Amino acid sequence: MEEKRDQWSSKFGFIMSAAGSAVGLGNIWKFPYLCGTNGGALFLIAYIVFIILLGYPILMTELAIGRNGGMNAVDSCRKISGKWGFAGGFGVAGSVLVLAYYCVVGGWIMQYFLLSITGNIPSSDYFTAYSSSTVPPIIMLTIFIIINAVIVMFGVSKGIEKVSTILLPLLIVFLAGLLVYSLTLPNASEGVKFFLMPDFSGINSVGDFFRIIITAMGQVFFSLSLGMGTLITYGSYLEKNSSLSSSTVSIVTIDTMVAIMSGLTILPAVFSVGLAPNAGPGLIFSTLTAVFADIKAGSIISSLFFLLVFFAAITSSISLLEVVVSFLTERFGLSRFTAVLIPSLIITALSILSSLSYGALADMKIMGMTFFELMIFLSDQVIMPLGGFFLCILAGHIWGTKNLCSEITADGKFPFRPAPFYRFVIKYAAPAMIIIIFVTSIISADNS
Ligand code: PHE
Repeated sequence: MEEKRDQWSSKFGFIMSAAGSAVGLGNIWKFPYLCGTNGGALFLIAYIVFIILLGYPILMTELAIGRNGGMNAVDSCRKISGKWGFAGGFGVAGSVLVLAYYCVVGGWIMQYFLLSITGNIPSSDYFTAYSSSTVPPIIMLTIFIIINAVIVMFGVSKGIEKVSTILLPLLIVFLAGLLVYSLTLPNASEGVKFFLMPDFSGINSVGDFFRIIITAMGQVFFSLSLGMGTLITYGSYLEKNSSLSSSTVSIVTIDTMVAIMSGLTILPAVFSVGLAPNAGPGLIFSTLTAVFADIKAGSIISSLFFLLVFFAAITSSISLLEVVVSFLTERFGLSRFTAVLIPSLIITALSILSSLSYGALADMKIMGMTFFELMIFLSDQVIMPLGGFFLCILAGHIWGTKNLCSEITADGKFPFRPAPFYRFVIKYAAPAMIIIIFVTSIISADNS
């Protein structure tokens, strides 16, 4: 006898879970440092344009494929066309690759939280020393993976939904508090200016311009969890009684709002102590901690900050694990326990390699990249855009926009005003943009 498939217990729970997947390290760790290294406000503008042009339509398409399929990412794609399971397969493989570095960063965040709460704000040099050590980061990443595995083992409504419904609102409240605090720091306005006022002096060539465009599009995919089967999987637990368009608007709005809030928190703080915003991936680990060390009640602020980043990371990593788990349970009939255990072990092994690539394995280069960089390259630059591209073709051309729109509106029960724009984007504009940017980014990765 087949067990009844789990479902979200409420629309609110679904939106919190999907927005929890979207809101993650992408918003708080990546977005501010990408703004910092890609011209501030110009990056923000490009980002918002892509959110509307690509993010909203593709996210909604993934939800539609999932709700129509009622199964994991691979089988939901196969339901549309038998040969197209691979489009969802990108997501299953990609989720493992993202987790292979996401859990390493998750472990760093936990370490920073633990140090801050015991009153030891890590110094700027601590990041290099810690990330390049062997055993301590491996312990943390393993704990991070165990937390994920336990939540996902509880299932969709009792595990993922419960955790996301608590953590995402908490995260937003903490972030709002920190935002207000950050804006009252001396010189905070410099950071606000950098973030919100376009400065064209940073663009010296067509190459600079394209770099900003490519990075912004990649960030939209990453931040909204697109092309990875996550939203197909989450959509598959939805009942057919709501408008996918309105849910998508809520998810996209929450994600964008959190990205903007974290830019407005982190950048003014960095400027307030006269530091530069272009530290790259270490921005929150070295630059921001220097700010915390400098202010009153720094360790409380620092603990709060890393706790909220941890919340953001967990609600995203459980969504990645669920893509794999739903595939394994439904395809191979595994119990939920085994279906969580097997990928968790594989992810732990890969994460250990990623972690060591900061230290003992720093010289092991594959295609000129460390293992950690390779995981980022394969997932963010190859699998996400290709997954997104094939999903657009599958949905827009094979399933057809008529079927898509009737899934989105639950057979016409709900209005869907942007339908003409949506049809055009999914059939032509999105696939064309993805391919152009994909090819450009592969060429530029080759040259660098
Ligand atoms: N959207 C998440 C973030 O911003 C990352 C993620 C990517 C999650 C793809 C699921 C799928 O951090």
